[in-house]
Amino acid sequence: MHSPRPIGPAHPAGPADPAGPARRARVVLASALATSVGALTVVAAAPAATAATTSTPEATTCQVVEADASWGFKESFRSYISGSIAHGEWETSGDVSYATPEFLFASSAGEVSSDGSAGTVPVEGGIHFTGHDGLLDTTVENPSLVIVDAATAQIVVDITGVSMEDAMAGDATAETLTEVGFVEVDLEGMTVTNDGDSVTLAVEDAPTAITEDGFAAFGSYEPGTAFDPLSFTIIAECPAAASPTPEPSTSTVDAAAVDVDPPAATADNASWLVWTGIGAVIAAAAAAVVVVLRRRRRGGDSEVSP
Ligand code: HEM
Repeated sequence: MHSPRPIGPAHPAGPADPAGPARRARVVLASALATSVGALTVVAAAPAATAATTSTPEATTCQVVEADASWGFKESFRSYISGSIAHGEWETSGDVSYATPEFLFASSAGEVSSDGSAGTVPVEGGIHFTGHDGLLDTTVENPSLVIVDAATAQIVVDITGVSMEDAMAGDATAETLTEVGFVEVDLEGMTVTNDGDSVTLAVEDAPTAITEDGFAAFGSYEPGTAFDPLSFTIIAECPAAASPTPEPSTSTVDAAAVDVDPPAATADNASWLVWTGIGAVIAAAAAAVVVVLRRRRRGGDSEVSP
């Protein structure tokens, strides 16, 4: 670092300068530089203010390495299927299994944000419900947990089946609807734990409720009807921070440093200001030299300034 140049009064009061015009030319030049560098100090300080407003760490995208969830779907529906009315059953496939009274989901795919406010965790597999001697035949598959914001998620599924209304009316034509936002999940109780280069999102018994789209696809349950609570743990690896956050600063830039490393002291969008300032310094210096030379040419030893 260079030591600061004096920018105080360039002309001490006193007797006539014995060095004559050459000395005075240097004095004028120094004065012009001091004025211009003063302006540069203001210009170069501007990016420091910008850095102070951008120092908040940004959320990064993290890759899911391990995720487990448990969700009973809807307890009353399971009772209905396995009970004396439907005389049915369910089968699971892929990374979905069942351990009374919940379905278990496992995944090592997807992404979540490091602050837990976004993400998608897909699970391969599904649940096949049957009953009423095959009249009830509904498959819920390819579930994904989609985090909408820090407080809300959805379980998105593909659904194939016949609604009870259609079945009762004698229409057994199965329909498939894909990527249905089936239930909404209340993430109010979710914890987000950042641990070095990983993040863990976890919640116990988050309330769920069927959506309008879920009702349209599945029937029977009005939108807003409570389904079983959801618990999950998602572990994801996050990339290292891209670059250190600049330290906020309110101090002015060392005038002497400006002519050594202007680009390093500025952001891209501010570097033209520094170079404009340097141009002003050079122009001021040239003007000062012209003034001095003109006065010398007039032959006089007249005062140049103050
Ligand atoms: C013709 C065949 C069917 C018959 C006779 C039938 C009959 C019934 C009956 C009697 C109930 C009332 C159970 C109770 O209140 O405890 C019921 C409930 C229900 N049925 Fe069906 N059903 C049929 C087909 C279907 C189909 C195809 C679906 C499609 C998913 C379906 C879904 C439901 C649902 C979701 C309930 C409510 C279960 C609960 O209490 O949460 N049913 N059904």
